[in-house]
Amino acid sequence: MRTFKELIASASWHLSDRRQQLYWSLYYLLTDSVLGRHWLSVTEAGLRHYAVGLPRHPGFELIHRANEFSMLHEEVLTLLYHLVAVGRGRVLELGTYIGGATVVMAGAAARRRRSPIIAVEPGGRQQHDTLPSNDILDDLACNLDRFDLRQHALVLPGKSADPAIRQQVQEILGKERIGLLLIDADGSVERDIGLYRGLLAAGAILVLDDYQSSGAPEKTVYIKAWVDAAIARGEVESLGVWGWGTWIGRYRGVT
Ligand SMILES: C[S@@+](CC[C@H](N)C(=O)[O-])C[C@H]1O[C@@H](n2cnc3c(N)ncnc32)[C@H](O)[C@@H]1O
Repeated sequence: MRTFKELIASASWHLSDRRQQLYWSLYYLLTDSVLGRHWLSVTEAGLRHYAVGLPRHPGFELIHRANEFSMLHEEVLTLLYHLVAVGRGRVLELGTYIGGATVVMAGAAARRRRSPIIAVEPGGRQQHDTLPSNDILDDLACNLDRFDLRQHALVLPGKSADPAIRQQVQEILGKERIGLLLIDADGSVERDIGLYRGLLAAGAILVLDDYQSSGAPEKTVYIKAWVDAAIARGEVESLGVWGWGTWIGRYRGVT
């Protein structure tokens, strides 16, 4: 038999839980809306708050399921959802593997009625410890199909530095520019940013994996060196390091 005090405590807990639910529902509704896109600027503090409410996020199930086949941390996938929802310009992903981040970003594009994302991946096979693939492009297509998102991701099979791929990206963009660039490829971010910087929108958001990583030290050396030097010369502004060491920042342009 519960005491009167216990009943009150449990009722207030439910009430506060309801309030929490209401708060996060409204928060995500507004933050990821057209209003959020035009009135709120992306800040590190804003991103930290956005990530905290993940269990109450309307895309929680999508993010959680995609996380099962992504090499990125769930926190980073959550922020990618937001950055697609509020981004101005197109999304370019270099290095999809079997599509963990691709599914989240395509899902956000579908739900927020944004243009399809552009995703570049050479394919092949990989003997990864926990996420092996015999055919990366086939697994990517299957994962997009599983979530009914095939038409929300334009997959370009090839490498980021292939001139034909660069040309295809430019043709897809037309007069549009890239508002969000996610690079999780072979570690050569300097090469990739050099190739694609002319297609970036003013203030585009960069998401670079392996800024810090114990699993890929060979990539980290180059990525950290590029990011730190770019911050020092004012080319980018840092918006924090997330998850397992993914860096997010704003591109300010070459000064
Ligand atoms: C770490 S995985 C990407 C993981 C993915 N972000 C996720 O959410 O699981 C790196 C991928 O980059 C691809 N890749 C390597 N070099 C590339 C390049 N130059 N251009 C595009 N993709 C590349 C690899 O084939 C591999 O699938």
